[in-house]
Amino acid sequence: MSQLPTHHVFPSPADASEALASEIGDLVSRRASEGRHAVLGLATGSTPIRLYAELVRLHRQGLSFSNVITFNLDEYLGIGRDHPESYWKFMHSHLFDHIDISRENIHIPDGSISPDSLEDYCDSYERKITSTGGIDLQVLGIGRNGHIGFNEPGALPDLTTHVTELNPVTIRDAANSFGGSENVPSRAITMGVKTILEARRVVLLAFGHAKAEIVQRALTPGITTEVPATYLQLHGDSAYFLDEEAAARLD
Ligand code: F6R
Repeated sequence: MSQLPTHHVFPSPADASEALASEIGDLVSRRASEGRHAVLGLATGSTPIRLYAELVRLHRQGLSFSNVITFNLDEYLGIGRDHPESYWKFMHSHLFDHIDISRENIHIPDGSISPDSLEDYCDSYERKITSTGGIDLQVLGIGRNGHIGFNEPGALPDLTTHVTELNPVTIRDAANSFGGSENVPSRAITMGVKTILEARRVVLLAFGHAKAEIVQRALTPGITTEVPATYLQLHGDSAYFLDEEAAARLD
C-alpha cells in the first residue's frame, strides 16, 4: 500500500530545522524518562547543518544525548576519517564534538574499509542497526536527482547497507567541495532503501529553489526507481519539512 508523505511548509530553513530539532529533543527526553535509548539515523550535506546547530543549542540548554545511538546514512568510499570531506569529520564538527553522546554510540560507515571486507562490513553495519532495536527517527536530505542517502536513480527498494556507484549529478554537486569532480570518490557505502524504510519515522528536509522540482516529483503519487525518494510513499510515517522555496511547486 502506498501513501504520500505528509509535508509541512515553514517560513524559513531555520524554522523547519527548529521544528525537527524540537521533535528529536522530545523523543530523546521521552526515552530518557523511560530509561531507554533513542536511535537516530542521520544525514550529512548542507541541508541538516542548521538542524545540528539547533540540537547543540538544545544540549546547551540541558538536553542530554547520553541515551542516544546514531547511525549515519552514508560515507564516500576510499577516504579516511581525516579527509576534510569525510562525513566522519562533518558529523563531529557540526554535532558530535558539541554534545554528550558516548563515542561508542556513534556509527558512521567507514570509507577506508578494504575492498575484500566491504560486504561483511556492510552486513555488520546493518546488524548493528537491528541489534539496537531499529532506528526511531531517520533524518534525510534529497539530492537534485531524487537520491536519498546515496541510493541513486535506479536503486532497488530491497537493498540494505551496500556499496554504490555515485551518479554523475551527485558527483557534479560534490565537485566544488572536493576541488574538482575528478577528486570526488566514485563509490560510497550507503544504507539501502530497505534500511531507510525500516525506520519507524522518516523526516526529509529540503530547502531552496534548487530542490523545488525534485520535491514536486517526489510528492507526486507514483513510485519509480528513477526517483528513489518516491520510495518514501511506501512508508507509513514519513514527512517532508520544507521551506517556502522548496515547496514552491506544490499545490
Ligand atoms: C547525505 C546524503 C545525501 C544528501 C543529499 C542532499 O548524507 O545522504 O542524500 O542528503 O545529497 O545534500 P544537500 O543537503 O547538500 O543538498
